[in-house]
Amino acid sequence: MNDETLISAINNFGDQSSLNKVEEPGVKKIFDHPLVDIAAADGSFFAKLKEQLTIKRLALLKPPLKWAGGKRWLVSDLKPIWEKHNRRRLVEPFCGGLAVTLGLMPKQALLNDINSHLVNFFYWVKEGLYIDIPLENDQHFYYNYRKRFNRLLEEGKHNTIEAAKLFYYLNRTGYNGLCRFNKTGGFNVPFGSYKKINYLRDFSNYREVFRRWEFKSEDFEALSLDDDDFIYADPPYDVEFTQYSKQGFNWADQVRLGRWLAGHAGPVVLSNQATGRIKELYRELGFKLIFLDAPRMISCDGNRTPAKEVLAMKNI
Ligand SMILES: C[S@@+](CC[C@H](N)C(=O)[O-])C[C@H]1O[C@@H](n2cnc3c(N)ncnc32)[C@H](O)[C@@H]1O
Repeated sequence: MNDETLISAINNFGDQSSLNKVEEPGVKKIFDHPLVDIAAADGSFFAKLKEQLTIKRLALLKPPLKWAGGKRWLVSDLKPIWEKHNRRRLVEPFCGGLAVTLGLMPKQALLNDINSHLVNFFYWVKEGLYIDIPLENDQHFYYNYRKRFNRLLEEGKHNTIEAAKLFYYLNRTGYNGLCRFNKTGGFNVPFGSYKKINYLRDFSNYREVFRRWEFKSEDFEALSLDDDDFIYADPPYDVEFTQYSKQGFNWADQVRLGRWLAGHAGPVVLSNQATGRIKELYRELGFKLIFLDAPRMISCDGNRTPAKEVLAMKNI
């Protein structure tokens, strides 16, 4: 029995009175699952089983949006570092699509991203979001919803629940999950032409974990930190030889971030592309560096090699 089947079995299992069905073969298997502590098979068994399965179910949550630069692949490297500090508050100044936060599942977190549409979506998930509008993977449908979303922005209704529902739809249906705006502030990502999209309507599982997390949308430097916060910072990648990046996070911002992180009293982990100047910056600021192969390839002397990622750490 895999975990998904187990979870749906227990969710359909009902309450304590269904304990008498324990001898049924399908249910018996639940008791054999390694998650279940057989020793607790007394009156409190159900409560305990449900609690364990809730933890497991929440641990399976995937990022609800597509987001450029998602670091799901880094979670297995970050986990052992985080585990030593997991009683602290996790602060992610560049939380993006929450790939890392959902992977680490902190009890308390301060999650920030300058993209206010993204944070508006998280805000409404935390309030309780059910998407009750039709969701269709169709070009005409997409451009109509895009128009409606842009109308809301023009009317200053960017922080409404309707904007959150449309943002989810546009993110999943548009090209590559991009979030791009034209000069006049209109969302201008084209239709994505995906074969199949599994839309989610009920975000109540996310609500359960978001309850304990605080969301903000401001420049990272405006965040107010506690000395013992654990910071994981994942800014837009440094692109060597450019002063001004397309994403609006330029070299001066990378330096500003390095100095801000160096001034924090608690543990800090930064991830970035291992460019020469990033390595130099963080070495000079007294961070310890480790290098990893990123899952994307770059051209190097005519060969394709994995891009290098750096983790810069302090007070770990
Ligand atoms: C590489 S992504 C983070 C991805 C995230 N770690 C994940 O796994 O999904 C970088 C994020 O930084 C945000 N950002 C850019 N400039 C910022 C700033 N000055 N302050 C806060 N966030 C910023 C972008 O909106 C983007 O979502």
